[in-house]
Amino acid sequence: MDPRKDFELSRRTVLVAGGATVVVTALPAAQVQAATPGNPAYAGSFSLSVNGAQRTVEVDTRTTLLDLLREHLKLTGSKKGCDHGQCGACTVMVNGERINSCLSLAVMHAGDEVTTIEGLGTTEQLHPMQAAFVKHDGYQCGYCTPGQICSAVAVLDEIKAGVPSHVTGDLTSSPRATPDEMRERMSGNICRCGAYSNIADAMAEVGGDQA
Ligand code: FES
Ligand code: FES
Repeated sequence: MDPRKDFELSRRTVLVAGGATVVVTALPAAQVQAATPGNPAYAGSFSLSVNGAQRTVEVDTRTTLLDLLREHLKLTGSKKGCDHGQCGACTVMVNGERINSCLSLAVMHAGDEVTTIEGLGTTEQLHPMQAAFVKHDGYQCGYCTPGQICSAVAVLDEIKAGVPSHVTGDLTSSPRATPDEMRERMSGNICRCGAYSNIADAMAEVGGDQA
């Protein structure tokens, strides 16, 4: 027996097995099942909750969550500014945490709970953050505003949950909703109109801590 051949075989097996492990563990259980060859769900049919409503969708596996929301579900509140994760206009909440939906594939969200700006409040009853943005003029053209509001809501939740940021001085105690903390956490949401100080005022009104 050629020991080198054995080694090559083992090395190849390890590499293939290792690669498969990475792929499988990176996907939710529903997708692992859907990705079984021969399963018709492989084309990308899956369910998720959007603004409290259960939706079953079938999209190309390359579709982003942002395109699923805007193009397929006609929820055009979330905006496409850069499509590269640089502006935050596409920010939505997934299972309570904010993400850039342009950077996330829709099929990764099988079984998830997605909240967009359309799910935060209604025209009759605005979410407190929406009302604060109106009161403090937290927008001009409004293009970044849905992402800013979704991000702002999630930021206050992050602070309440004790998640530290780059400017949290003391990692042994819970962060506070100070202006510095809020500005740092909102730094991924760009506003070409420059409504930043008014956005900060709106956030301070909802959950701010002036210390
Ligand atoms: Fe997603 Fe700009 S559109 S970050
Ligand atoms: Fe115009 Fe922010 S309000 S980009």
